[in-house]
Amino acid sequence: MKKNVIVGQSGGPTAAINSSLAGVYRTAKDRGANKVYGMLHGVQGLLEERYIDLADHIKTELDAELLKRTPAAFLGSCRYKLPEIHENKEVYERIFEVLNKLEIEAFIYIGGNDSMDTIKKLSDYAIITGHPTRFIGCPKTIDNDLALTDHTPGFGSAAKYIGTSMKEVIRDSFCLEYSKGLVSIVEIMGRNAGWLTGAAALAEGEDCDGPDLIYLPELPFDLEKFGDKVRKLLEKKTSVVVAVSEGIQTLDGRYVCELGSSVDFVDAFGHKQLSGTASYLASYIAGEIGCKTRSIEFSTLQRSASHSSSRVDILEAYQVGGAAVKAADEGDSGKMVVLQRLSDDPYQCGTEVKDVHKIANDEKLVPREWVNEEGTYVTNEFISYVRPLIQGDVSPVMVDGIPRHLYTPKELSER
Ligand code: F6P
Repeated sequence: MKKNVIVGQSGGPTAAINSSLAGVYRTAKDRGANKVYGMLHGVQGLLEERYIDLADHIKTELDAELLKRTPAAFLGSCRYKLPEIHENKEVYERIFEVLNKLEIEAFIYIGGNDSMDTIKKLSDYAIITGHPTRFIGCPKTIDNDLALTDHTPGFGSAAKYIGTSMKEVIRDSFCLEYSKGLVSIVEIMGRNAGWLTGAAALAEGEDCDGPDLIYLPELPFDLEKFGDKVRKLLEKKTSVVVAVSEGIQTLDGRYVCELGSSVDFVDAFGHKQLSGTASYLASYIAGEIGCKTRSIEFSTLQRSASHSSSRVDILEAYQVGGAAVKAADEGDSGKMVVLQRLSDDPYQCGTEVKDVHKIANDEKLVPREWVNEEGTYVTNEFISYVRPLIQGDVSPVMVDGIPRHLYTPKELSER
């Protein structure tokens, strides 16, 4: 590389997103990039010329190692939707003005399906205007819903957290006995894709039966049938544990979380904030059955738990960061790095690049055949697909008994 690289992070953060950033930085430097800039809060910040020189923040090998172990987007994230090119050319002119000023050869964006929309539009604009900057997407999302890639960095660590915490919740729920029983409902992220919710089944093993029921958003949710199912289970057991996706919808297409208190926040991509499903269902069961209930929302914990991240995930996140820079350096643009699983046992995975136009704004859902007939649990095929992705640990760097992270750039919180 002869000139400079700029990298941004966008969308919901993960425990592995900064490992990709570390991979981008290292590879860009190894390939001769002069400067590696980090846009603060993605393209939204770039429009305001908010960026840092990563060399000021990753000074030593220890900094790079800490970065890999630091959750949330080190550079700050955004949910900014670029307008269509014909709708507002000024936005693109502004972005390319900044890219020209910084002499950017490669633009790497670490994100999910909405962020790939940004790569698609910017690479299209570069083609239309004959601009030489190359644009490459680097996959990231706990939701695991990106098309054309076997899985996405960030998913493995979140799945590991969910399997582990689910197991701990199940243990806890059995130790106290309530006269009419206890129903614990655990709400898991993933929006319209059930990959993460299905990962609750990872709790199952020799020492744990796993959750009793798992409801993915891919299938309509029947409230009455759910109540009957729980009632029947309580005839045999003192404790019932249910995993539900935040995105489950009733038979008439309403999000269950909207049945309770109203949720008004909608982001730039038109996504409603989904939260409150477990709490609604816990109240429903308490009302119908009169038993003790508990609602548990893993919420941001599931995507920020870097103290229990998966080694496979952190290594792959680093690898895709490097592969993105390599692709740009070799002349690719308008592409996203994908992970190609080569084998399950031993688990082997490589990288390729695919056309981002076939990925942006799409959602890869859990196949119907990976959910049981009744729609209340995932199959063994599902579990075999996820299990390799949660293997191994990355030891946190502990200081005074608490994991140490790379400090946040002070520019991030400045207005
Ligand atoms: O897209 C990743 C994700 O974590 C989803 O699973 C979840 O619905 C969403 O982000 C939550 O986003 P926010 O933190 O902006 O509410």
